[in-house]
Amino acid sequence: MIQILTGCYGRWNPPESNQIELDLGCGKGGYLLLLAKLFPERLILGADVMLGRLRKIQKKIDRGNIKNVQLLRVNAWNLIGYCLPDHTLSRVHILCPDPWPKARHRSKRLVTSEFLGRLAQKLIPGGTLHLSTDDDQYNTFMMDAIAQLPCYQKTNQGINDVIHCKTDFELRFEKIGLSVNHQVFVRVV
Ligand SMILES: C[S@@+](CC[C@H](N)C(=O)[O-])C[C@H]1O[C@@H](n2cnc3c(N)ncnc32)[C@H](O)[C@@H]1O
Repeated sequence: MIQILTGCYGRWNPPESNQIELDLGCGKGGYLLLLAKLFPERLILGADVMLGRLRKIQKKIDRGNIKNVQLLRVNAWNLIGYCLPDHTLSRVHILCPDPWPKARHRSKRLVTSEFLGRLAQKLIPGGTLHLSTDDDQYNTFMMDAIAQLPCYQKTNQGINDVIHCKTDFELRFEKIGLSVNHQVFVRVV
């Protein structure tokens, strides 16, 4: 069932036992369904604002009798601001987020240093942040943002087990000859 979390009244209470991975801005859900299959022992959270997309993913989950996915209809800022307890997530994927390339739209970009700083509190110490984009300017913007935060350290490890998994957007980009840049960080403090 999709959980709809609205503003500061929405809370999601994690189960005690599972490792939890979050696909933030999961879109059509191709990636999170791959994660769910690869890691049946983990709980895979898929979060997005687009309810219609989440409903379609939920149909696939129901048809496939998939037990280890929870979908959240939530704005990412609310999710990391109020909805999750600290130290909940072992890995977060923010893959091909909307790049908002026009200068007048830059303020809509999700991956800022403020956002990443708050997100760090939701990661367990040693947890992993996986970012990707096809947009060189957004890549630079994200790297500048994360460079301001001593709580993250760049690593070459952390996604070796999912390097073969592609999101729906990544597959689309690859079809038209665009490559997607992946970066991985570990929460160190
Ligand atoms: C460009 S799509 C990428 C989808 C998927 N990660 C992929 O690579 O196929 C970006 C997704 O992020 C979602 N999104 C954008 N801003 C968001 C926000 N503030 N909170 C939650 N989801 C958001 C959009 O609805 C959209 O589904």
